[in-house]
Amino acid sequence: MTLRLAHASCPAVCIIRPHAALSAAPSGLTACHGGYYLSVSMAMTNSVTGMELVTDLLPESERGHAPDNMHDIPFGTLFTDHMFSMTYSDGRWHDPCIHPYRPISLDPAAMCLHYGQGVFEGMKAYRNGEHVLLFRPADNIRRLNRSAERMVMPRVDEDATRYYLKCLVSIERAWIPPQPGCALYIRPTMVAVEPKLGVRAANKYLFFIVLAPVGPYFKEGFKPVRLMVSTSDARAANGGVGAAKTMGNYAAGLRATKLAEGAGCKQVLWLDACERKFIEEAGTMNVFIKFDDELVTPPLTGTILPGITRDSVLVLARDWGLTVNERRVSIDEVVEGTGSGKVEEMFGTGTAAVITPIGELLYQGKDYRVGNGEVGSLTRRLYDELTGIQYGTHPDPYGWVVEVE
Ligand code: COI
Repeated sequence: MTLRLAHASCPAVCIIRPHAALSAAPSGLTACHGGYYLSVSMAMTNSVTGMELVTDLLPESERGHAPDNMHDIPFGTLFTDHMFSMTYSDGRWHDPCIHPYRPISLDPAAMCLHYGQGVFEGMKAYRNGEHVLLFRPADNIRRLNRSAERMVMPRVDEDATRYYLKCLVSIERAWIPPQPGCALYIRPTMVAVEPKLGVRAANKYLFFIVLAPVGPYFKEGFKPVRLMVSTSDARAANGGVGAAKTMGNYAAGLRATKLAEGAGCKQVLWLDACERKFIEEAGTMNVFIKFDDELVTPPLTGTILPGITRDSVLVLARDWGLTVNERRVSIDEVVEGTGSGKVEEMFGTGTAAVITPIGELLYQGKDYRVGNGEVGSLTRRLYDELTGIQYGTHPDPYGWVVEVE
């Protein structure tokens, strides 16, 4: 059975109640589905697209929940019962729907498969008892649109997408793991699905959101990682797509990552594509270096992903009175600083990896230890504060956290 919900008159959050608990459909209740009512308060008007969100939900007896053994499950390998999808054609998005998780069907000539026209996002929902929290979701959706624009793809409506996302997370709340360090990873994705072998921007797209209960990105947890500085491959070049969260960026990093893993490293430390001199990113993360009393991260000059965790760290560190600079840092400055003790700490930031301490660098066949190779005090303080805000155990003076009802 299908429930139809008019988006134009929806509040930000939907509430789901067992069918049996309701003797009659109260006012404001649009329909019932599979033993469930989706109840909406009609008081708030969120008029953007006027599109109907259709939900096609599994009966409760067929739904799962986050497993107890979260730490045994490799990151991003387990998915929840439902997903969101909508289609773009004839110049507009249509048919937004929350439905059971299932494979998508693509024409073999779908343009995303040939030309890589695809973008995605990474965000998380956190559980704090009965509370479900999102971290800066509007920033992720805005970045999705910036990535889409760079790849000549259509924008999504930001309010509507936030609403769809919240509905999906609310429906799947049983999948949000309660264990410390665990969360529900959210992967909004947009791909070109028009079948055509000529190279141009497609006219047809699919946007979907899938959810995965996750533990730490690195199975070792909050432990320093060893990185190999790549002197051969580069991640992104000036004028390219390094600032967009597009699929090809990750594929382009695989060869160097494989080399790094072969050398006993977790990820690659990327240098700029032009001179192979300046530090850009650490694997799939933004990178920070603490020199004496200065915290530095490379500036957003087009080759670096504008990370939301990166920005949050900048805000926190500035608020704590640290000297924070977004400036270019050469690999020579870092290597010399590890010798002199000037480089006290290094860490990577990202939604998946949160804050990951960097303990050692492998560069041109030589190892360089960062600080004493252990987790630095600033790295730990930032991790504790950021995760405290994300899980709702620390105050959030920045208004970053959004509750899903
Ligand atoms: C994220 O940090 O959320 C990313 O998208 C990186 C990905 C490798 C998991």
